[in-house]
Amino acid sequence: MGDWETFVAQDWVETDVALAPWTTYKVGGPARWLATPRRLGDLEIIGRAAVERAVPVVVLGRGSNVVISDAGFPGIVVRLGDSFGSMRWEGGEVVAGAAVSLPRLARTAVAAGRGGLEFFVGIPGSVGGAVHQNAGCHGRETKDVLVSASVWDLRRGELTSRSVAELGLGYRRSDLTDHEVVVEARFATTPGDPEDGERLLREITRWRREHQPGGTLNAGSVFKNPPGDSAGRIIDALGLKGLRRGRVYVSERHANFFVAEPGASAADIKGLVDDVIRRVAEATGIVLEPEIRFVGGFDEEGR
Ligand code: EPU
Repeated sequence: MGDWETFVAQDWVETDVALAPWTTYKVGGPARWLATPRRLGDLEIIGRAAVERAVPVVVLGRGSNVVISDAGFPGIVVRLGDSFGSMRWEGGEVVAGAAVSLPRLARTAVAAGRGGLEFFVGIPGSVGGAVHQNAGCHGRETKDVLVSASVWDLRRGELTSRSVAELGLGYRRSDLTDHEVVVEARFATTPGDPEDGERLLREITRWRREHQPGGTLNAGSVFKNPPGDSAGRIIDALGLKGLRRGRVYVSERHANFFVAEPGASAADIKGLVDDVIRRVAEATGIVLEPEIRFVGGFDEEGR
């Protein structure tokens, strides 16, 4: 059997699977193939098949920073299975599988009397996504607490351990590419008091409720902040809150959040993103760069 035949014969590989339910925006079309690997060997099968057929691969974490195109993704979408969702302590360091949710990581550390990871409670993503994007909030970033990550290279079919310095983490970025899958990450923690930790978790959660449009369909900040300024402040100052494209609008609560209504399309989101980029550039000369990731094909009309 060839590598491709081996791949499609796996019971953890499905075809034409709707991706919208796996994203926080709840828009977008199907994955041609959805793979839910349970172990490293499964990642090897995916990598070999993708190389043999030159099929594109994208890894989906908790879908909290992506817009899947309405046409879907014509390749393999990888969603790490539950077996990548475990955590273990090694002294003061916690090693978390890439599929662990960041709020769970934050709460687990606090419950164990360890500090430093509380800020993760405010980020609805996965450990793998946090490493790939150097996720952060409240003045803290993944790179402040990350020690190292184990990365599976789909093309080479090998696992390497990279120190935080080797991962090239910068503001909402890393040197990792689409064919490098984070499988687990090691975080440093500090001794902490569970009650202080709980208080901090509550404060962060309250701050988010007050300042961000929780309870709506969104993917957090749409744009990266330009150096020395805030995308939300700029968009707000131009009076663009409420600006709408189809069923997507600029949040009244925070202008760098776009809220999707049920029935919204990826084209609506893309259209609004392009519209805001154009308006901000015309008014200020600043070209905003999206932080959310567009997956699949988007033409000029955003379709
Ligand atoms: N502001 C406005 N109007 C708005 C929104 C914000 O004037 O509609 C002003 C605020 O008053 C404040 C400034 O802009 O003076 C900055 O706003 P905020 O404190 O909300 O922070 P931000 O820069 O918009 C960043 C991260 C968020 C993170 C928060 C809190 C980016 C792109 N965003 O937002 O991260 O939660 O700080 O730490 O860096 C994300 O990346 O998805 C995300 C939500």
